[in-house]
Amino acid sequence: MKLTHDAIERNVTLMVVLTLLVVSIGGLVEIVPLYFQKSTTEPVTGLKPYDPVRLTGRDVYIREGCFLCHSQMIRPFRAETERYGHYSVAGEFVYDHPFQWGSKRTGPDLHRVGGRYSDEWHRAHLINPRDLVPESNMPAFAFLEKAPADANSIESKMHALRKVGVPYTDDEIAGARKQLEGKSELDALIAYLQGMGLEMKNVK
Ligand code: HEC
Repeated sequence: MKLTHDAIERNVTLMVVLTLLVVSIGGLVEIVPLYFQKSTTEPVTGLKPYDPVRLTGRDVYIREGCFLCHSQMIRPFRAETERYGHYSVAGEFVYDHPFQWGSKRTGPDLHRVGGRYSDEWHRAHLINPRDLVPESNMPAFAFLEKAPADANSIESKMHALRKVGVPYTDDEIAGARKQLEGKSELDALIAYLQGMGLEMKNVK
């Protein structure tokens, strides 16, 4: 069969196969280089792996579905950078497995929320958002205050993350349980929020 345009258009299967081929090549050309570019694979200056407390807080964030209402991805547009700060860059997320960019903003973006409020502000806000922002429709997370931070799984979590490239040392993993002693899930979540986006906060 002569592979003319006419022949392709009359044969749906062939058309589908060739379309998929073209789309895959296009996709690979865009995606593959990202795995080798320094700007996407190297951490930005000052970025450290999450310590055990922040890592635990991050898991609470994921479990409670905070990402359903909050993005962590400031786009490079003026309206965004004036409100939130420097736009997000790939090198800030190299230790995030999986990243929490999100795609829905019922609430504000949280990528540079670190240091914006005090710990007490976050505590009061998470216990009842309406106490601080009367019109807020964010759910209350008061129960996190009574839930102890989960120390039983922290070592295996850190081992797993090490397998995908997060440079935790043996000493860090061995000392992880101790750091979670006496901490509630709320403490851990606040520590996570307070560390967010600091590395590039003052970059203009
Ligand atoms: C149903 C949607 C929804 C969910 C789920 C949600 N939030 Fe919110 N959040 C909001 C809205 C709306 C606001 C803005 C009003 C306010 O400050 O309460 C907000 C505000 C915030 C702020 C203040 C941000 C700023 O820059 O002023 C923080 C911090 C925050 N949320 C953290 C969280 C965390 C952590 C979770 C998960 C435990 C969470 N949110 C879950 C809707 C949500």
